[in-house]
Amino acid sequence: MKYIKDQENLSGKRVLLRLDLNVPIKNGIITDETRIDKVLPVINFLIKKKSKILIISHIGRPKGKINEDLSLKPICKNIEKKLNQKVSLVQGNILGLKREDLFDASNEQIVFLENIRFFEQEEKNDSNFSKHLSKLADIFVNDAFSCSHRAHASISKITDFMPSYAGLQLETEINALKKVTTEIKKPVSCIIGGSKISTKIGIIKNLIPKFDNIIIVGGMANNILHYLGHPIGKSIKEDNCDSIIDDIFKTAKNHSCNIIYPEDVVVGKSMENNAEIKELNNVKNDDFILDIGPITINKIQDIIEGSATVLWNGPAGYFENPVFANGSHQIAKTILKKNKDKSIYSVVGGGDTIACINQINTIEDFDFVSTAGGAFLEYLEGKELPGIKALK
Ligand code: 3PG
Repeated sequence: MKYIKDQENLSGKRVLLRLDLNVPIKNGIITDETRIDKVLPVINFLIKKKSKILIISHIGRPKGKINEDLSLKPICKNIEKKLNQKVSLVQGNILGLKREDLFDASNEQIVFLENIRFFEQEEKNDSNFSKHLSKLADIFVNDAFSCSHRAHASISKITDFMPSYAGLQLETEINALKKVTTEIKKPVSCIIGGSKISTKIGIIKNLIPKFDNIIIVGGMANNILHYLGHPIGKSIKEDNCDSIIDDIFKTAKNHSCNIIYPEDVVVGKSMENNAEIKELNNVKNDDFILDIGPITINKIQDIIEGSATVLWNGPAGYFENPVFANGSHQIAKTILKKNKDKSIYSVVGGGDTIACINQINTIEDFDFVSTAGGAFLEYLEGKELPGIKALK
């Protein structure tokens, strides 16, 4: 793998820079800027080298369609302010874009393309689309470790068409995770939550042989509860997961890995509603499960107490509403209590998890914070991520 930090002669070169600026946005306001802050070093590095920087990113999952709510506009504005330098956004059809259409003003140094997932070719890893993108610049830099588990055009295929390098943050994340996975101290517990059930549920089985405890919370836990015959009301859940869950429990038995899931929950009648603690069998048809309950929190706290390493990806509930944030905040506080006397090594990853721990100003206290969620779990699984393989 070649690293951008080692490259000389970048002056005047056009750099196609893939970032993950998939940050939480509510009513046009960015609610957590961590992923932006983490890529400022690579942008500043390229500014210093006098490169022309063409940034590609995605937000959300627009599935190949233009969606104004998922525009990169607020992010461009945020970066412009942070750098105190003009940042332009190309909003037209990228497919018709020519090299000479970009950087027309001689002092223009940073240009964004609009959300790359507005184009269906991106997620199809389309060769012609990648080739077209490659013609807009001279070299490619991937500084989006958190997207590198996706075999997408601007992450994977693009490397077939231009000299490609690893960015600064990507290098940092890989080095840190390599160290974590090779020097891991047992007992080790992994907490998996969040709402991206389809991304994560298939990974759990492969993680079982590596961990002593797997704690399943958040959206995925609803699938487990449903499988076990508990009512989950209107809560989010993925269809057709029963055989995966069956496999998870069987594999866990063979490897003496404890699978922990909610034993009580906090529900609301909507995401904005007041919280009510419920035993599992009292969940009503019109309830949404939006957090873990106190019995579950206690159980998770005991497991963290007995762990030497904890890896955490995905919040335990709908933390965006403070009444459903308690489970996630208690998990964070328990880990950090043990961190203080250095009796645990803690790694936390994922955009939502970062946003959640930022609510209680604890991000600096974990041993390592990865920007990656799904990519973090796939890395732990031992898989070579498509975006990293492509760079090699
Ligand atoms: C993330 O937030 O983990 C990355 O941006 C990848 O997003 P995705 O799960 O929609 O591919």
